[in-house]
Amino acid sequence: MSAATSPETFAAPMLRALERSDLPYVHALFNDPEVMRYWFEPAHATMADLDDGFDRRRGSDHERRFIVETAGRRVGLVELMYIDPIHRNCEFQIIISPSEQGRGYASAATRRAVDFAFRTLNLHKVWLLVDTANVAAVHVYEKAGFAVEGVLRQEFFADGVYRDATRMAIFADDWLAPGGE
Ligand SMILES: CC(C)(COP(=O)(O)OP(=O)(O)OC[C@H]1O[C@@H](n2cnc3c(N)ncnc32)[C@H](O)[C@@H]1OP(=O)(O)O)[C@@H](O)C(=O)NCCC(=O)NCCS
Repeated sequence: MSAATSPETFAAPMLRALERSDLPYVHALFNDPEVMRYWFEPAHATMADLDDGFDRRRGSDHERRFIVETAGRRVGLVELMYIDPIHRNCEFQIIISPSEQGRGYASAATRRAVDFAFRTLNLHKVWLLVDTANVAAVHVYEKAGFAVEGVLRQEFFADGVYRDATRMAIFADDWLAPGGE
């Protein structure tokens, strides 16, 4: 069995803070059209812009960005964005590397990030926007406990077409309740 397919390789991933040294990894993700169409952003990122963004955002209380790592390698990126100190909510975003998809990493990383949002940041609500046609992502989110709040029609333009976006959310009360997570 190769290292890429051993059970150990598929072990539950950890989240750790995004470092500057991770930016080349992020650069590759952000220039992959198949990934970025689901982030509703063009696949067009320069290293210079990523470097500038990293410096600008350092120390900000409004976001937490994580690398998803397993068996010593990067498999994805998870972000808690727009952390709001009054309303105590934030947006959740995730990418798993195309070559690492289908191994349960998004499901595990989503649970870890939600747990961090509620148990560490003391947030009240985590919300997200997902392309309604992104069935794998919607499935991952439902499995983690997110529920649909509504559909925003033709909200985003990606790959030549206006896309409906589903807004989903999960609440601390439900997550932290006995048996909730
Ligand atoms: C969506 C994404 C995060 C999923 O990552 P992943 O690591 O492959 O997800 P997992 O392996 O944890 O789980 C995928 C689940 O979707 C299911 N699935 C996959 N394709 C599916 C489909 N076409 N229809 C229904 N379910 C599907 C799998 O069976 C699995 O469910 P299970 O664990 O209950 O068996 C990943 O594909 C990705 O990064 N895509 C590009 C960026 C993106 O879409 N980000 C989300 C933006 S909101």
